[in-house]
Amino acid sequence: MKHNTERKWWKEGVVYQIYPRSFQDTTGNGIGDLQGIIKRLDYIQSLGVDIIWLNPVYTSPNDDNGYDISDYRNIMAEFGTMDDMDELMTQMKKRGLRLVMDLVVNHSSDEHEWFVESRKSRDNAYRDYYHWWPAEKGTPPKRFSYFDEDSNAWKYDEPTDSYYLHYYSAKQPDLKWENPKVREEVYDLMKFWFDKGIDGFRMDVISTISKDVNYPELPEKYKGDFIPYYADGPHLHEYLKEMNQKVLSKYDVMTVGEAPGVNQEQALNFVDEDRKELNMFFHFDLMSLDREPGETFKMRKEQWKLTEFKKVFSEWDGVFAQKGWGSLYLNNHDFPRSVSRWGNDSKTHWQNSATLLQTFLLSMRGTPYFLYGEEIGMTNIKFDSISDYQDINTHSRYKAIKKAGGDLETFLKEEKHAGRDNARTPMQWNTQHNSGFSEAKPWLKINENYKEGINVAEQEPEKDSVLNYFRTMVQVRKDHLALVYGAYQLLLANNELVYAYLRSWEDERFLVLLNFSTKRSSVTIDEVRFDKAHLIISNDDAENNKIDNHFELTPYQASIYKVF
Ligand code: NOJ
Repeated sequence: MKHNTERKWWKEGVVYQIYPRSFQDTTGNGIGDLQGIIKRLDYIQSLGVDIIWLNPVYTSPNDDNGYDISDYRNIMAEFGTMDDMDELMTQMKKRGLRLVMDLVVNHSSDEHEWFVESRKSRDNAYRDYYHWWPAEKGTPPKRFSYFDEDSNAWKYDEPTDSYYLHYYSAKQPDLKWENPKVREEVYDLMKFWFDKGIDGFRMDVISTISKDVNYPELPEKYKGDFIPYYADGPHLHEYLKEMNQKVLSKYDVMTVGEAPGVNQEQALNFVDEDRKELNMFFHFDLMSLDREPGETFKMRKEQWKLTEFKKVFSEWDGVFAQKGWGSLYLNNHDFPRSVSRWGNDSKTHWQNSATLLQTFLLSMRGTPYFLYGEEIGMTNIKFDSISDYQDINTHSRYKAIKKAGGDLETFLKEEKHAGRDNARTPMQWNTQHNSGFSEAKPWLKINENYKEGINVAEQEPEKDSVLNYFRTMVQVRKDHLALVYGAYQLLLANNELVYAYLRSWEDERFLVLLNFSTKRSSVTIDEVRFDKAHLIISNDDAENNKIDNHFELTPYQASIYKVF
């Protein structure tokens, strides 16, 4: 049976991702907080979005900005209290906004009481909550770690003369899902939050929770690439099914797993409705398009091509054409700003490329996710100096290159395009001090272009601003279910300048034309009758440039036609 036209709130919803540290400070410490989000709820509601995804707000020593949790049932002091959280939920409900929290359970913080106990002795009750390798067995087989200077995921721990496993920093030890007690702990904390009334979880690196606890050498077939190996653990789907059966199936909630290392053949194993696991996941194919093969953060030399971009989206649409459901994103807190990466952040093209990307994401099949600030076209900050960066990822890679006597200059040049902090700079609210984000020095520098029109206050009254275009385009998607559920048909597959496709559902059909280039581009579309084409939205004066089925598109022009 064809599932994917079955209507669901999480298919029709538009998601707005908030990095709480960077959204709005109300306490004057330079760090965003929950009261800040509450203060901005009317604004968020005015965007027309439906769901807020909050990056982690739990108690954390912040080695990785909250992705290292020391108490899953409490709120990080810098962000506020559980009362603030309750108030946020009440205020969101009043406005019809749903809340999706981050579930970070591949690892905890080393300051979580489970790990504090676990490392005390080999016979501690919590010993088996984590992955340990006794030193008398020699050095453990190589495992890759993202944030370790030596890329070594095993850290020697003196008190018990053993190594523990950490795919991320040494302060993020991996939880041992093979232990049923760990799984029960996770299910309990999920229930705790669902019973409080949240509407779903974005599941951090959920693809890597299952490990072969014999810790063998990396099997040949992974050709030295650890990430697909991590995503192919022996009991992964057993655990996801169990989680669904014991927790998820009891609530009306949405789930979206972050799934590095998962390929198209494996995709439906996660989201085929009949398997009862997750609703959606984030693949990494677009995020690795302009990167070296097998490298998440290292830029490749050649510029990405539009045909490659189309291929990623078209193939993934095909994966979910009958079953499952896609999630669409062009950036998040781990990857650079969309307009700087897939559009063009020069003065001339910033506005139209930002609105083109919005048109794209909001006219594709799948649930669209926007990162705070994307609605006003926020851009990469492109720091010059290592001291401007706060991110553990940039710092650990910098140290590794330094240690190896590598080329730091090139690294810093590339990091202007790849660094995660590009996407984490404070929200640009107005032209006042610190752009209205905070009275105090912000935890991460604000992009100075808040003084040049990239801020909410100045865009608010402007009819054609990036912000108001976003609102209109969200409404266009809401008004036409074909843009949510309709079949997708790629046109002009080999064109390197224009992305064109049809979306059709029941008696409605739409043509989307996107000129992803700085050149005027003309295209001829044979698939539709243009005498009856009716313009729905455009970020430029499209009608003037159309003669029959021949279009002349201005740089970064985006237009949608209702067609027959
Ligand atoms: C993915 C998260 O999005 C990222 O920010 C984090 O550093 C890692 N997972 C580790 O939790």
